[in-house]
Amino acid sequence: MGGSVNEQLKQRAQRVIPNGMYGHMSVQMQSPRTPQFFSKAKGAHMWDYEGHRYIDYLCAFGPNLLGYAHEEIDGAYIAQMKQGDSVTGPSGKMVELCEAYVDQITHADWVMTCKNGTDATTMALMTARAHRDKRKVLLASGAYHGAATWCTPVPKGTLPEERAHFIYYQYNDVESLNAALDEAGDDLAGIFAAPFKHDFMTPQELPTQAYADAVRRACDDKDALLIVDDVRAGFRMERNCSWHALNVEPDLSTWGKSLANGHPLSCLMGNDRARDAAGSIFVTGSFWFAAAPMAAALKTLEIIQSTDYLERTVAMGERLRDGIAGISKDSGVPIHQSGPPQMPIIMITDEEGQVDNKGCVAFCDKLLDHGVFFHPYHNMFLTSAMTDGDIDQTLEAISKVVPALAR
Ligand SMILES: Cc1ncc(COP(=O)(O)O)c(C=O)c1O
Repeated sequence: MGGSVNEQLKQRAQRVIPNGMYGHMSVQMQSPRTPQFFSKAKGAHMWDYEGHRYIDYLCAFGPNLLGYAHEEIDGAYIAQMKQGDSVTGPSGKMVELCEAYVDQITHADWVMTCKNGTDATTMALMTARAHRDKRKVLLASGAYHGAATWCTPVPKGTLPEERAHFIYYQYNDVESLNAALDEAGDDLAGIFAAPFKHDFMTPQELPTQAYADAVRRACDDKDALLIVDDVRAGFRMERNCSWHALNVEPDLSTWGKSLANGHPLSCLMGNDRARDAAGSIFVTGSFWFAAAPMAAALKTLEIIQSTDYLERTVAMGERLRDGIAGISKDSGVPIHQSGPPQMPIIMITDEEGQVDNKGCVAFCDKLLDHGVFFHPYHNMFLTSAMTDGDIDQTLEAISKVVPALAR
């Protein structure tokens, strides 16, 4: 078998994994030479099997908040592993962690831990329906809430009946929200809202105050539950639920990805209004109560509380954004940037401002040669482990590859 180690792994994977890879970590929609497999990661960097180092702007699609292989966090994880991880019952770390989140997150009066973001969003859906035994749930069209049968973006293998009671509205559009509310009538169980519009392949949008207020008011009026899905943006916008800055507190919030800085943990948090409903549904999982990721999450939260990780990450995002805007202006190559600077989506557009898909793929492909790993369609993530040097290297790389895009 010839080719690079990455190519060899891809070929072997074709035999033993359907399509060689599935889900969001498949590189099928990226350029053919995008590495699929990585040998190691530290801080803000990851290495492919050929030994190339990349500044990683995907951060494992979110979990890497404070740096890969973080010594204190992984130290807490390893220490707990030695004490006990998956045991017949949880450790006291579970109570300690739930107490810590209730103290930290304004709207939270209770917490239920689980493993993946989809576990948390599915529990939120069930809790909303259990709250007053109502059926209709409003979802923003195009928003991602996971890969269960009720929400996977590719419906193959699911039944239309599984989505029979969802009503879709446009994010940030109060008129379309009101139309969906009318359709739900007295049967509204809940409304899902992403902290900001972070849909795949589209420019991102921050929420307007009018939209966030309208969603909260509708849930109050109809005794339904407001769910903020913070799985992707949790602790990247705020040290609280992401809508705290808008002065809008949800009844439920869903978390995952960054909670334990890469160790598998997610959770549903809720207020007292939703407590009985959450207590009435049956949910569980073999690994949901494992103690080591909880030890890692406690250490992660300690760092969130005691350092300027967030301000640093935002400052680096702004530096990147400003630098790219300058390169775009000087070169005449339209580069569209949207989303919070620490979770940007960066897209090549045509003269009319339409996303140039081929241009996006070519841009990311060329950046690989300069040790920069970008994604053509998905929002990206900065980590507090990045340094000014990483941002400078990224900007230098962009200024080198942009002239080729102009041609
Ligand atoms: C907003 C949002 N909700 C839910 C999920 C599902 O999380 P997981 O992939 O951990 O199941 C994701 C994952 O990307 C997400 O971004």
